[in-house]
Amino acid sequence: MGKRVLIVDDEKNMRWVLGEALRAEGYEIAEASDGKEALALVAESAPDLMVLDHKMPAPDGMEVLRRIRGKGLSFPVIMLTAHGNVQTAVEAMKAGATEYLTKPFDLEELKLVIEKALRTGELAAEVERLRAEVGKQYDVEGIVAGSASMLSVLETVKKVAPTNATVMIYGESGTGKELIARAIHQLSDRAQRPFVSVSAGALPETLLESELFGYEKGAFTGALQAKPGRFELANGGTIFLDEIGDISPAVQVKLLRVLQERVFERLGGTRSIEVDVRVVAATNRDLQELIAAGTFREDLYYRLNVVPISLPPLRDRPEDIPRLIAHFLEKIGAGKKRIAPEAMQALVDYKWPGNVRELENTVERIVILSHGDEIGLEDLPAEIRSGFVLQGGERCFVLPESGVNLEEVEMDLIAQALERTGRNVPRAAKLLGLTTKTLEARMQRLGL
Ligand SMILES: Nc1ncnc2c1ncn2[C@@H]1O[C@H](COP(=O)(O)OP(=O)(O)OP(=O)(O)O)[C@@H](O)[C@H]1O
Ligand SMILES: [Mg+2]
Repeated sequence: MGKRVLIVDDEKNMRWVLGEALRAEGYEIAEASDGKEALALVAESAPDLMVLDHKMPAPDGMEVLRRIRGKGLSFPVIMLTAHGNVQTAVEAMKAGATEYLTKPFDLEELKLVIEKALRTGELAAEVERLRAEVGKQYDVEGIVAGSASMLSVLETVKKVAPTNATVMIYGESGTGKELIARAIHQLSDRAQRPFVSVSAGALPETLLESELFGYEKGAFTGALQAKPGRFELANGGTIFLDEIGDISPAVQVKLLRVLQERVFERLGGTRSIEVDVRVVAATNRDLQELIAAGTFREDLYYRLNVVPISLPPLRDRPEDIPRLIAHFLEKIGAGKKRIAPEAMQALVDYKWPGNVRELENTVERIVILSHGDEIGLEDLPAEIRSGFVLQGGERCFVLPESGVNLEEVEMDLIAQALERTGRNVPRAAKLLGLTTKTLEARMQRLGL
């Protein structure tokens, strides 16, 4: 079913023109010829969006808007204002208009503005819904997942957890590798036994060896008494070998033997120690590349890569961002704080090089630093806020601290405009403030 758009204008012709144009786009149209009728219709059932003329006999558009927002109704409202009246436009935005258009405007422009407002409105509604649902939404304890790629990861996790199979987790930094490793342990029948985590990258070679396998008294100077290694400590449970791509060839050999025979000796010892340990490993590196470069043993790779799980970077699953934000707001006890739709859109559009960890830290920071209950664009770090930003009704581009590559920005914006308009070049050109011809020329130059 089409989204319901309520057109409020005292001019019959205007209602007719707008109604026809929007019906052709698949919207369901209702009309009101004055402010009173509009408020009555809204009271019956709120529309998905309202196109509201400013200039009407009392109550005028501004008054209607104020009453709607006063009732706590948050559907998007596009205000139509008279040409050259910037004051009214600013006032409208302050009163809670989602966007304004000055008459005369072009119908294509209106359609685009409506599309965008509905899209951001949906996001905001989605977050509210998800927030209300937090607690019920987890399939696996503490792991937020809604994208197809993450749901399929969870399927694999649930299937493999009860077995003893070695699991190899791949993923960029901050994608949740450790979280998944813990979930595998929690969902296995080893859950009551220890989960022991070793970060291979953090330790120098000799230290890593003694950490993993332990040592006997006198194994080296300073080894005043025997000490069990992590493999022994993990007996009956799970050992998580993090950053496995960084371990040295000597440790790789020892590890291979443990994986093959579940047997090893402590440093300086001769007694063979047998352990029952489930191995989960993780890396943010490309093991195939390391094998090709000769720094990672292929036989070890095959022993580890029994069940591979790849965690997608956050930028490839933006649909998870609102639910992760809802989760983190809940986790840090953000109370009544909520994220304004345009801020949410910026958070969803950002590429998150540090993945979920960066998102979590960002949410924490903005909650602490923001004033008031609503987190707006101005509360976001500059690198996230960059892009086109509405500030007091004026558009500007915020240059990130780190600078930009202008050609890349151009390419990216053109690609986005094409994607948003379904590769409709004239409409994309409009979004970019270019003529169709100029856009075509640029696309050619950039090889798009
Ligand atoms: N799907 C998710 N749901 C909820 N929280 C998540 C999710 N993914 C990651 N997190 C959170 O993000 C943070 C980073 O996750 P984690 O430490 O597991 O990442 P990692 O891949 O091990 O990162 P690194 O490679 O830097 O060690 C943690 O606080 C974790 O709880
Ligand atoms: Mg980690």
